[in-house]
Amino acid sequence: MTTLDTPVLTIDGPSGSGKGTISRLVARKLGWHYLDSGALYRAVGVAAGWGDIDLADPAALVRCTFDTEIGFRDEGDELRVLVNGQDATDELRTETAGAAASAIAAIPEVRAALKDRQRAFRQPPGLVADGRDMGTVIFPDAAHKVFLTASAEERAERRYKQLNDKGVPVTLAGLLREILARDARDASRAVAPLRPAEDAVRIDTTGLGIDEVVDRVLALMPARPVGPGA
Ligand code: DC
Repeated sequence: MTTLDTPVLTIDGPSGSGKGTISRLVARKLGWHYLDSGALYRAVGVAAGWGDIDLADPAALVRCTFDTEIGFRDEGDELRVLVNGQDATDELRTETAGAAASAIAAIPEVRAALKDRQRAFRQPPGLVADGRDMGTVIFPDAAHKVFLTASAEERAERRYKQLNDKGVPVTLAGLLREILARDARDASRAVAPLRPAEDAVRIDTTGLGIDEVVDRVLALMPARPVGPGA
């Protein structure tokens, strides 16, 4: 099987739609690789913070993208992300890193610089790719495309629970404001705006449990490809 024959399932959607959790579970069920493309943008955001790089300086951010080494370590339940060799998993999940990632992701040269790094994840037996433009720009030839949505209120509540469990002080109203602002920025940027691929199947996850969404995604894959060793 060559890289281009390797099947890809793209799962795109806004923050908090459940993409990350669903994609990881689906990848595990299929025995496929998993790409968390948002982590790449967040990693550059974190590296920019470490280097005191101004988020309003696109040329410096492009240099930072080229200079930043990003690695993933699968620890069963969790995917650890290494930025320049340092474990930055927890820092990556902060709202600060998310906001920096969203600003950085609007720079066309940054997106171009990350394209090949994302495509390199396409390895047999298959790839589940999670992001905003997986089905539209990075893997337009993917055989299976899903676009997950959920109401902004539900997405804010999910994030609130997540952060609250971790003891991070946040308010629901603040999170809702941030989610709406990020949605608007991601959907209105000139390059690779957040939108479903024409051939993507939309699933609204509002009010649905994780297992229900995973089952719906798997049900979309007609001749279910098999994982390693099958
Ligand atoms: O999925 P996430 O919240 O980790 O993504 C962080 C930011 O990165 C988000 O604001 C949009 C951007 N992003 C993107 O532009 N394209 C992707 N494929 C993934 C994320």
